[in-house]
This record gives sequence, structure tokens and C-alpha cells, in this order.
Amino acid sequence: MFKKTEKVKRDLQEEIRAVTTLKDAEQLKIKYLGRKGIIQDFMKLIPTLPAEQRAAFGQQINALKAEVASFIEEVIEKLSREPVLKVNHEIFDITLPGKLPVTGKKHPLTQTIDDVKEVFARLGFDVVYGPEVELEYYNFEALNIPADHPSRTDFDTFYIKNDILLRSQTSTVQIRIMEKQKPPIRIIAPGKVYRPDTVDARHSFMFHQVEGLLVDEGVSFADLKEVLNQFIKTYFGKDVRMRFRPSFFPFTEPSAEVDISCSLCSGKGCSVCSYSGWVEILGAGMVDPHVFKAVHYDTEKYTGFAFGMGVERITMLKHGISDIRLFYENDIRFLSQF
Ligand code: PHE
Repeated sequence: MFKKTEKVKRDLQEEIRAVTTLKDAEQLKIKYLGRKGIIQDFMKLIPTLPAEQRAAFGQQINALKAEVASFIEEVIEKLSREPVLKVNHEIFDITLPGKLPVTGKKHPLTQTIDDVKEVFARLGFDVVYGPEVELEYYNFEALNIPADHPSRTDFDTFYIKNDILLRSQTSTVQIRIMEKQKPPIRIIAPGKVYRPDTVDARHSFMFHQVEGLLVDEGVSFADLKEVLNQFIKTYFGKDVRMRFRPSFFPFTEPSAEVDISCSLCSGKGCSVCSYSGWVEILGAGMVDPHVFKAVHYDTEKYTGFAFGMGVERITMLKHGISDIRLFYENDIRFLSQF
């Protein structure tokens, strides 16, 4: 008999170790102490025993019952002290702050190009693209910059071989479009350009430009001014002022460089605008008749204007970014701010 009660206790302890929930513990209680449980089975044996053994046997069973009950109560007590909410056996703390999903963002330069596209789309401009690997003809000759032209050095260029190069300006796209289409033309051409500059806070061997071109009958410098005015007010804000300075580009005549009042110091003077209150943002002008001749446009009938701006430059001015290299380092701490 002693052996039997010992076995019951060992079995019970084994089963208690596997218990993880209150429900398991309750089931164990029924299995051992219930009306059809293991202890009751022993009780039922009592009347079958000889009369003189009954008392001793009954005492043993009662002792076993008390021990079993105390083991089971102990687990039930322990489990009911633990937090009720359990998810995959981990404690679920409803007071912890939630985890936000990490969402991707467009690169700041892509955002600027999108903004520029949107302003000009509203003014009726189509977005067009051209190749980055170009023929010398489109980068220079057709734009009125022959081999011996002194301004060639302004567009310092990576040559691949012979007359094939990496374009140094997006003005190439003007020619490619005009070769294929007759006026009226209203396009902007965003894209990468390349110049062998030493990399520093303001220079990079690759950067982005957006070129604009409008050709029609009776287009004047006043149209150019108003289109740029619309763009500047939308992109930089309506308090920003604009000024034109006479300049020179081989493919425009007259030509101008366009400045805006420094958006960082509002024209008061700071290190970004070299204490002048103005910063240059783009080049522009009326398309030179030599360029129209290259694409067989009637120079008596059509006039047009073109402009080109640096995407990095306007993004830096708008957001007060002081180093162009930040755009290319892919540092998430920088990029996630836009
Ligand atoms: N292509 C010129 C540059 O890269 C900018 C420009 C474009 C100027 C169109 C006038 C007209 O500097």
C-alpha cells in the first residue's frame, strides 16, 4: 500500500511540473480529488478489505488526500498570483508605448523635382527626359558652343571617347525635343548632369538640373519673367523677391542670371548669401536664333525662352542645408528629416 501512495505522489509531482495555466491546475484537481478521481478510487477499496485493516488503510488514504490537496493548492495559488494576460508565454504589458511602422520617404532631391514638376505642370509644361551619355553635338555644337568657343570651359566635361561624353547640362534635351517637334513647345527636363569638379561642400561631380523651354509665336522676356516669378513664389514662398542680372550663355540672347532674396536671412545678410542678401538660383534667357537654326525653326516666326536650375542648390537654399555631400551619403538621420 505504501508503494502505491508513493507512486501517486510521484505521478502528481510530474504532472504539476507540466502545468502552465490555472485551467490545467483545475483539471488536475478533478483528476485526483474529484468524485471519480484517483483518491476516491482508493476510498472505494475500503469496504472490500478485512475489517481489522480498514482503519489503518483509511488513515493512509486521508493522509495522501491531504498531501495531494496541498500540492495542488500550491500551484493554483502560484498561478493566480501571475499576470492573467499571457501571449505566447510572454507577459503582455499594455502600458508600453506602441511601435510605429517605419515608412519609407522620397529622397529630398526627388521631392524637389516633384515640386518643380508640379508647378510647371500647372503652367502647361510637359516633363521630358534625355540621355545622360550624350553626343558632343547636343551638349555643345547645337547649343551654339563650337569647339573653339571660350565658354566651353564653363561646362567642363567628362569625355567617354571621341565625341561621346557625360552631359554637363540638361540643355541637351532642348535640342533633342526641338528636332522632333514643331512649336508650340513647353517642356521641363529634369535629370543628372556631370562635371569634373573636386567634391567639397558646394561641388559634386554629379548633380541634378531642371531645364525649361518654351517656344511659340510672340514669346517675350516678360513671359519668362512671369513664369519664373510663379515658380519662385510657389517653391520658396510668396515673400521671396526675385532679380535679374545680365549674364551670358551661348544659347540664349539676351541672357540673365536670376537671384532670389536669401530665404534663410530674408535678405538681411548671412553667410549663405555672403552678406549680400541675394542668392543666385538659375540661368535663363531668350533662345539664341543660332540654336533655332540648328533645329530648322523659322527664326522670323518663333521666339522662345529657356532656363536651367540646379536641383541641389534650390533644395539647399530652401532647407538651409550647408553641405551638398549630405544628399549622396544616404544617412537615414539626414534623409528622415524631409
Ligand atoms: N545650362 C545652363 C547651365 O548649366 C543653364 C541655362 C539653361 C542657362 C537654359 C540659360 C538657359 O549653367
